[in-house]
Amino acid sequence: MVKIDLKSLKLKAKKEVEKAQNLKELDLVFRSYFGPEGKIGALTKTLKKLPERKRKTLGKKINEFKEFFQEIVEKKAKEIKEKIEREIEEKEAIDITLPGKKIKAGSLHPLTLVCQKVEEIFQSMGFSIVEGPEIENEWYNFDALNIPKDHPARDLWDTFYIKSDRKPPKKTGKLLLRTHTSPVQIRFMEKNFPPFRIIAPGRVFRHEATDARHEINFYQVEGLMVDKNISVANFKAILQEFLNKFFEKNVKIRLRPSYFPFTEPSFEVDILCINCQGKGCSICSGEGWIELMGAGMVHPNVFKNVGILPSEGWQGFAFGLGLERLAMAKYRINDIRLFYSSDLRFLQQF
Ligand code: DAH
Repeated sequence: MVKIDLKSLKLKAKKEVEKAQNLKELDLVFRSYFGPEGKIGALTKTLKKLPERKRKTLGKKINEFKEFFQEIVEKKAKEIKEKIEREIEEKEAIDITLPGKKIKAGSLHPLTLVCQKVEEIFQSMGFSIVEGPEIENEWYNFDALNIPKDHPARDLWDTFYIKSDRKPPKKTGKLLLRTHTSPVQIRFMEKNFPPFRIIAPGRVFRHEATDARHEINFYQVEGLMVDKNISVANFKAILQEFLNKFFEKNVKIRLRPSYFPFTEPSFEVDILCINCQGKGCSICSGEGWIELMGAGMVHPNVFKNVGILPSEGWQGFAFGLGLERLAMAKYRINDIRLFYSSDLRFLQQF
């Protein structure tokens, strides 16, 4: 006779349903009872062979179990589905308390900062800012500046020439990378009549070996002031004013006699080292002084080349200031190559 212990069967089924981790496992539990091979399926098959009374009691028990089983399975299925949904939600959730990714902001290059400052100070003294091309020809870079062909001074400004199959024009000569900003003086004076005061910042190129003080490309600021009765005294006054403003303190300057074909007289301007006050350090290469620029009174031949007549009383001064030298003195940098090294550890300090 088939007997069924409903209580222990329910308990067993409940345990098995509880154990199911997912819908697939739950389905397997269901099949183990109600599938073709399942426990209850087999029991049901025996029903019809039983006498009526027994069939009734057993049938009732089976139905009661079915109802019970259906209930716990549905409950479990619901639980599993809710758990899956929760997991998906958690995975897709945005944690708004997480710190965001920071975009690294760049900053202005120290040479840009220095150039802006130089422009600002000269503008406050009535100077205009002009520019010229980085690719020049021999006339502007040399001849017009009183440096004729074969003049030994051309060696000082050795540069890179642009190759060309065509014969260069006789007057302007070959194309080259300008070695100084002085050609901008010529270009400006060709088109403008004095009086004027200008500065011309820009990039220049040299064919030379690099070291802590020399680069094959660097920046200069050309200056030019032409009027009647302009003298070296005016130059010194303007320069002193500029340097005091730039370094935000009283700077000691020294003019040394020098030679440039485009000025007469010519001199070189040094400042007392900002870092060591003349004692000698790595910023001034132990000299105590830092050479900042070449300068002088514009040579009459230069005026003649642009059609300005010194006999009418026009005269003036010019200078060529090394921007890197200025930045090195201001920020106490001891190697010019740092400006072009793209090293963030250096650049982020400005
Ligand atoms: N052009 C010169 C150089 O590159 C610097 C210079 C010297 C510029 C004297 C001037 C000047 O305007 O008058 O070395």
